[in-house]
Amino acid sequence: MVDARHCARDDFASRVIAWQKRNGRHDLPWQKTRDPYRIWLSEIMLQQTQVQTVLPYFARFLTRFPTLEALAGAPLESVLELWSGLGYYARARHLHLCAQTIAEGAGTFSPDPAENVSLPGIGRSTAAAISVFAFGRRAAILDGNVKRVLARCFAIDSAASAAQDERQMWALAESLLPAEKGIESYTQGMMDLGATLCTRSRPACDACPLGTICLAFRDGRQAELPMRRSRRPLPQRVSSLLLLTDGRRVLLERRPPAGIWGGLLSLPEVAGEAAEAFARRHGCRLLNSCALAPIRHGFTHFQLTMQVLRCDVEVISLQAGEGLREWLPLDDVGAAALPAPIKKLLLAAARSGQGS
Ligand code: ADE
Repeated sequence: MVDARHCARDDFASRVIAWQKRNGRHDLPWQKTRDPYRIWLSEIMLQQTQVQTVLPYFARFLTRFPTLEALAGAPLESVLELWSGLGYYARARHLHLCAQTIAEGAGTFSPDPAENVSLPGIGRSTAAAISVFAFGRRAAILDGNVKRVLARCFAIDSAASAAQDERQMWALAESLLPAEKGIESYTQGMMDLGATLCTRSRPACDACPLGTICLAFRDGRQAELPMRRSRRPLPQRVSSLLLLTDGRRVLLERRPPAGIWGGLLSLPEVAGEAAEAFARRHGCRLLNSCALAPIRHGFTHFQLTMQVLRCDVEVISLQAGEGLREWLPLDDVGAAALPAPIKKLLLAAARSGQGS
């Protein structure tokens, strides 16, 4: 059981608030506004992604889609194109769907986190962050960084189950909110502490405003907390992909909307079909082929090994348009909605002209 009594709520909150005001981050582009659209966009991008990575994407998104209506009215493909490289593409699909849901309904976000949490892609912590930063509402966030701060400060050992841990953490996060003033600084402070001082490895405890009340620091348990759940090894999957190119273009297929890389362009996946037959079906004559080094990519629930066969072809007739396949000029690879590892491979292929 967590004992939050060793530190009064207001003591905890006021330490975080005072530290945030002096030492926290103040110049992030989504901090200079109360616009729920911008705040929501930043919070979705910041799920599982670091600030430095998000910054240029956030700027590009706002240039292209300055309002929620502009985003809602855009085709999904252009949203995915702009998202390409940020990863976790379900976020982009949910983002688009969420914009459409709001545009067709209330027209804007509610100040109430309980209402926003039912929208696509918005979980409890994101809903709370929107309410805090856009509306000054008192609500608790609990993302990975905040969990680490709490697990250390209150020496939370794992409980019986993941669900129980989660409930306990939420109850603690709620109990620590400042009673009256400073919810924005407090919330930003918890994020900033987790991201800048209370890092997973080598936390900067000497600079931490919670140093004198942190149980992990007192007992030298920072490396041990938060406890990691022993994870079963991820299942392995293998997929066979063809990189069909005539040196100027590459044949791509759009992934089905649901599932990994849903809606993005990727290399055609072949299940057993010989490269020669595949090339012929797409109006090409196979000149030569070679297997590239396998590419491994980790997803949340499995590990994927991609075996890519590069096929240099002569295009007899540009009849790619079978279903969801299309020829993309290699010069356009940089701007296309491609998964990061595939884009990297194709950029290398484009640079080397013939070889990859
Ligand atoms: N991570 C999640 N939300 C954030 C925010 N508003 N600022 C910085 N990092 C964050």
